[in-house]
This record gives sequence, structure tokens and C-alpha cells, in this order.
Amino acid sequence: MDRLEIKGGKPLSGEISISGAKNSALPILTASLLTKDSIFLKNVPRLNDVSTTVNLLRTMGVEITFHDGITIEINSSKATRPFAAYDLVKTMRASILVLGPLLGKFGFAEVSLPGGCAIGARPVNLHVESLKKMGANIEISGGYIKATAKKLKGAEIIFDTPSVTATENIIMAATLAEGETIIKNAAQEPEIEDLIIFLKKMGARIEGACSDTIKIKGVKELKGANHLILSDRIEAGTYLVAAAITGGHLRLNKISPKNLSSVLLKLEESGAFIVTSSDYVEIDMRGKRPKATNIFTGPYPGFPTDMQAQFCALNAIADGVSEITETVFENRFMHTQELQRMGANLNIDGRKVTISGADSLNGANVMATDLRASASLVLAALAAKGRTIVDRIYHIDRGYESIEEKLSQVGADIKRLHP
Ligand code: EPZ
Repeated sequence: MDRLEIKGGKPLSGEISISGAKNSALPILTASLLTKDSIFLKNVPRLNDVSTTVNLLRTMGVEITFHDGITIEINSSKATRPFAAYDLVKTMRASILVLGPLLGKFGFAEVSLPGGCAIGARPVNLHVESLKKMGANIEISGGYIKATAKKLKGAEIIFDTPSVTATENIIMAATLAEGETIIKNAAQEPEIEDLIIFLKKMGARIEGACSDTIKIKGVKELKGANHLILSDRIEAGTYLVAAAITGGHLRLNKISPKNLSSVLLKLEESGAFIVTSSDYVEIDMRGKRPKATNIFTGPYPGFPTDMQAQFCALNAIADGVSEITETVFENRFMHTQELQRMGANLNIDGRKVTISGADSLNGANVMATDLRASASLVLAALAAKGRTIVDRIYHIDRGYESIEEKLSQVGADIKRLHP
């Protein structure tokens, strides 16, 4: 397994270009199942989760061509096997995003239950119950969701908790259903808005993007479209923390600050000087140690759970005591034990971790447990004295494109060790 070797203690300085958003690319890729025409996507990030989704679609008979290394063409006209096998789904729970499009377009789907992961049980009851309300017959047996529907019908869906991928699955299924579907308590993440923009280019009739109530009027068919994938706000937030934790100065290009408001507020609270424009964000710590900041994660526009681990690392060397409360997932503090190995002073009490900022951290051998936990270990290593080895970095390759190149270009001493 690849590992990352990082020698910390140097303030980062320079510019980083932000890639397309993983959590926008994945639903938009599966939305290609909704039309027999070709769709053309740009700014799709080169990530393991994207490759997994491409492989999954290809097993269904979808034709996917990479043009000039920038554009991906997807054509589902020959897709005949609406089946998502366990061996692919178990590596990426977002594979559940094929369920809605397959049912909406083909009236049949057999999708492996994704199962839990490091950060929680990750149930899919909201996906299944909502599709049943739209007329699907669904049975769960042998670890698979087996769903059929002659023709889905519009329904009123009220989520008991705003679920990102459940919102996306129901939107996609509803685009070809009979009648109108209304989703209440919908998730409002920017990646959902990007999916809606793309679906409307295909001819879908959708209102309510960026709100908790989304209305979809079913149409007969959808056509092909071109789309530029939204930039990744979590990748951007991670590199902003890299500047904050090393006392450095970074300018991130190709990212809109409007999707980062809650993160930028917390970084300013930690003492960062932030300058923004429509397509870049600049952060300058002016060599100062960050101040401790309290974090309370929640659904968008609240503070993103996907930035919680990164702020644990920042608070581990901040001046003062902080509390970080994780309200979205029940087990998303796996990174804290590894941070303790580097000298972090913290204490977990249920969903809250209390951190007393240490003057410095020390390099150590640490192990990644999930995608954002691995990012927090890289951040801690960038600030730590001495050498850190981060193991199992296949987790980080799922969501960060060329991380060692991007960090090296702004002064980090980081290299990938092959076994
Ligand atoms: C999406 O996961 C993201 N993944 C996650 O990003 C992100 O952390 C999460 O949303 C929250 O923002 C993708 O978009 C591919 P949820 P998702 O359904 O949709 C409960 C990353 O790091 N729930 O919004 O799976 C669930 O247990 C990944 O990029 C149900 O109870 O998350 C959780 O408590 C990690 N029943 C809450 O909803 C369901 O049927 C929010 O989860 C579905 C969810």
C-alpha cells in the first residue's frame, strides 16, 4: 500500500488550483443513465471514486470515452444490465446513486446494499422508503436492494433528516416519473444544485434548488447535455486549513467563496486574513499561530461534517481550548486517536471532542481510516516537527486529486512511498 512521507514545520506559500467536486461528479455521472443521448462532462476530477463509478457504469453497458484528457463522453443507449454488484459497491457507498436513475429509466434495479463504513452505519432507509412511496416494489434480500416499477409516480416525500444522496436519488428518479414529486426537508448542499442545473440542461423540470423544498415535474424523456462540474469546496477547505495550520499564505484558484461561507467564518475566527473574489480565495496567517475555534457540524449551509476532521487537526495546535461537535455521523472521530499519537491533547465525550491546543505536534507513523480523517493527518503532519508517515492513503486518493503534487508546489516536503 502507498504511504505518504511528510516532513513538517514549513509555512506553505503559493497558489493551488482546485479540482472538480467529487460529490458533484458522482451523481452527475449516474444521471447519465437517464438518457440514451450522449452527455459531455468537463472538470471531472481524477479520483478513485470517479474511476469506481465509471467502472460500475461500464458493467451496466454504459459506454464511457475520455477525450483529450479533459472531456468525458458518456452514452447509456446500450445499457442493458441495471445491476450494481457488491464487489464494486462495497468500495464506494455512493454507488447507491445508480438506484434512482435505474428505476426511473429502466423500471428495474438490483443494487447491493452499501453497508456501513468507518464513519457510521450509513443506512439507506430514506432512499428505499421514498422510492416505495413513488410506487416502486422493493425487497431486500441477500444483501441486495431489488427494485421494480412499471412507471414511478410523483409523490410527496418528507425526509426525517436531510440526506444528500437520498435527495439526489429521488430527484433523479422523479425526472421521468408520472406527475409531480415534492421533496420536503431536502438536503441543500451545493453539489445538489449542480446536479439540478445539469438535469435541467437535459430537459428536466425542477424548482427549488438551494432550498429545503424541491419540486420535480416528470417528463417523457431527457436529452443529452454538456456540463462543467462544480469546483470542490471540501478540497478547497482542506487546503485553506493547510495554510492556517502552517502559518502560511495560499491563494486557491478556480473556487467560488460562496459555497465556503461557514468555513471561511471559522478560519477568520482562528485569526486568518481572508481575501475573496468570484473565483478565488486567498488566506494569510502572517506567520501567526491559529486561535482555538468551536465547531458544530450540520447539514448545509451549516458547518460541513466533511471539514470536521481538518479542524480537529487545526485546533490540535491552536492557542486555547476548543470543542468540536459532530452531529451528522455517529463515528467520525477515528482520526483523533492518530492525532494523539502526534501529541494532540484531546478528550472525546460522545459526539463532542474537547481539544487543548498543544504548542506543537511531533511527527509519527499514523494510519488513515477514512477519507477526511486521512486529510486531517496530512494537515497535522505539515505542521508537526519531524517526519510523519501516513499509511493506507488509498483513502485519500478517493477524494483528493494529486495531493502530493499540489502541496509540493506550495513548499510542502511531501512524497509518496510505494511498497
Ligand atoms: C454525502 O453522503 C456525502 N457523500 C458525504 O461525503 C457527506 O459527508 C454527507 O453527504 C453529509 O454531507 C456524497 O455526496 C457522495 P447523508 P450521504 O445521507 O449522502 C442519515 C465525503 O467525505 N441517513 O447526507 O451518504 C445518515 O446516517 C463523504 O466526501 C439516514 O438515516 O450522507 C447521516 O446521519 C463522506 N438514512 C445523515 O442522514 C438514509 O437513508 C446524513 O447522511 C440516508 C442517510
